[in-house]
Amino acid sequence: MSDLSSDLQHVFSAQGPLAETIPGYRSRVQQQEMALAIAEAIKGNRQLVAEAGTGTGKTFAYLVPALLSGGKVIISTGTKTLQDQLYNRDLPAVRDALKVPVTVAMLKGRSNYVCHFHLQRAMSEGKFFSREDATYVHKIQAFAENSATGDKSELTAVPESATIWPAVTSTRDNCMGQECAHYKECFVMEARKRALAADVVVVNHHLFFADVMLRDEGVAELLPSANTVIFDEAHQLPAVAGAFFGEGYSTTQLMELARDAHTEYITSIKDCTALPEATAALEKAVRDFRLIFAYEGARLPVQKALALRNFESAYVLMQEKLAALDAILETQAAREPAVENCWQRAQALKVMLQRWLSAEDPNLVRW
Ligand SMILES: Nc1ncnc2c1ncn2[C@@H]1O[C@H](COP(=O)(O)OP(=O)(O)OP(=O)(O)O)[C@@H](O)[C@H]1O
Ligand code: SF4
Ligand SMILES: [Mg+2]
Repeated sequence: MSDLSSDLQHVFSAQGPLAETIPGYRSRVQQQEMALAIAEAIKGNRQLVAEAGTGTGKTFAYLVPALLSGGKVIISTGTKTLQDQLYNRDLPAVRDALKVPVTVAMLKGRSNYVCHFHLQRAMSEGKFFSREDATYVHKIQAFAENSATGDKSELTAVPESATIWPAVTSTRDNCMGQECAHYKECFVMEARKRALAADVVVVNHHLFFADVMLRDEGVAELLPSANTVIFDEAHQLPAVAGAFFGEGYSTTQLMELARDAHTEYITSIKDCTALPEATAALEKAVRDFRLIFAYEGARLPVQKALALRNFESAYVLMQEKLAALDAILETQAAREPAVENCWQRAQALKVMLQRWLSAEDPNLVRW
């Protein structure tokens, strides 16, 4: 018997460390076989697809070899709930049982972390919140001051679906990056730093693929140093990947730009009185444009879209309103980094809208 095999046999045996620490633990042949196959694949730098019935104990079957292998491991779960569960429950349980000194970290997409910059902006814009949002924003502020992670799943007093979240988290487009006054205490940057330093990093499939597309979620910088990547619930991968590839851009980005520019008007460039009119006009043009489609989130290539009634005039109107907003932002950009950020997004979106219409970019678009 190889060392690897006897080590694993010991770990999974009825007298082993798992049996000692996991209540109700029983030695299971299938679980051990799976663990050995995974350990050998890791050692040999090979790919392995493993399938076993529900309740087999697949989690321990991959955690044990992952923790014993020594190199950097990325584990991707199907959902954020499973990610929390793995990080808070199964991973510490196996680590404590094996008594291995590995460091672990969790990484989610940036929209899961409170953003100090946009929270502050939202606070000064306070009168625009619903009453519910007004209570939430104070809870979020207290949370941001005390939390070690800024992960919104830890703040159970504010539901995930609350409308306040988009206003107090960042997007790739509106993050100020190194120019941000809060960069040093930024939760997103902190989570990425911890992930870079850790031996085992827990991510989710959605984040993994978003990162392949956008290069923004911090997974891409982890991959070069990772020895092993493990996808739990891998049968979900085709659906998750399909949602990302082949997608161009979406009208949501225009709505977000209008919203962020309006926030800047209220918080930092109040004397630019032309701005609220321009953002409202863009929002209206986008809403009217979306009405052309029979259902939300429609995705279609340019030739098909052009055949739709009123498509071209509504599209051109949207371009015009975007151009008008862009022109105003240009005059204000130098005053404030966040305004400059809006202006750059407006320019990029202008180019994208133009490219798409002239069919230079054949990608599908989501309205
Ligand atoms: N050898 C074992 N003896 C007793 N309990 C175990 C053993 N291995 C795992 N468990 C427990 O069994 C439960 C199911 O394990 P796990 O979630 O890993 O199953 P799974 O194979 O991933 O199933 P699914 O396909 O539903 O995801 C967990 O509560 C886990 O703690
Ligand atoms: S760096 Fe980006 S995410 Fe972090 S606080 Fe600043 S704007 Fe928010
Ligand atoms: Mg499972």
